[in-house]
Amino acid sequence: MLSAAQQQQFQQDGYLVLPGFKSADEVAALRERAQALVEAFDPGEQKSIFTTDETRRQDDSYFLGSGDKMRCFFEEKAFDAQGRLGQAKALSINKIGHALHDLDPVFDAFSHGPELAALARDLGLEQPQIWQSMYIFKQPGIGGEVRWHQDATYFDTEPMSPPGRPEGETRSAQHEGPIPGVTTFWFALEDATRDNGCLWVEPGGQQGARGVLRELFVRDGDQTELLKLDATPWPDDSLAVPVEVKAGTLVCFHGLLPHYSAPNLSPASRHAYTLHVTDARTRYSPRNWLQRDGALPLRGF
Ligand code: FE2
Repeated sequence: MLSAAQQQQFQQDGYLVLPGFKSADEVAALRERAQALVEAFDPGEQKSIFTTDETRRQDDSYFLGSGDKMRCFFEEKAFDAQGRLGQAKALSINKIGHALHDLDPVFDAFSHGPELAALARDLGLEQPQIWQSMYIFKQPGIGGEVRWHQDATYFDTEPMSPPGRPEGETRSAQHEGPIPGVTTFWFALEDATRDNGCLWVEPGGQQGARGVLRELFVRDGDQTELLKLDATPWPDDSLAVPVEVKAGTLVCFHGLLPHYSAPNLSPASRHAYTLHVTDARTRYSPRNWLQRDGALPLRGF
């Protein structure tokens, strides 16, 4: 699936861009299905917003109960001062999460298959487990910022990350390399540009002195907390690189790679779909917010 050069690039930069990984038809099918889920969603009194500002999270039970469900979350800026939607419902949803890949046939088909299985293997995930899926809308005009973070903050594992392999070494089925921590699969469902809030990353920021986990999001019953683990600063603008990609592109990145996306102030949406995947050879922290029980077993690709 991946060339040796691509594997090395992933190790070095902490991310890899794979244009054309999904066909236009596959992308269209997923977008259609997401639209149908939003149409079927009756918000009622449920106006849970999604924000990465943990001090402002409105309704933890709706969020914390979503690990094995398909739930819609509103954009923070979707409502006016009177609590009414400022635009159509379909243009107000921030995301749908977090078990689309296990519960919906269209999402299931998109999220599994031999290509993804081969890719995961090449990224070092020998026993992949897909914990979470999210359909992210990044709505025109109100699509919220996602501040600098590392995905390992939300999916802590032991070990967390490979220490980096010797130069020139490539992975094979026979080779037992370091076990990766959480790995993110980020599918562009529309062209992502600087204008509509594409990803920004710090290339190489997953390794060396800067490759430390800065924050840990932990859950204790109904309570969550964002713990500060390390004072290493987030990258400044000079280190941030935009990942502008076409629809159908898959971006894979390391759990320690710092990344963010700016608010979408443009008239164009920026739909994306993500999967967060760990290796069953690691120990998944019992303090992570998302846990699964036997009712919905974890699966690989
Ligand atoms: Fe992220």
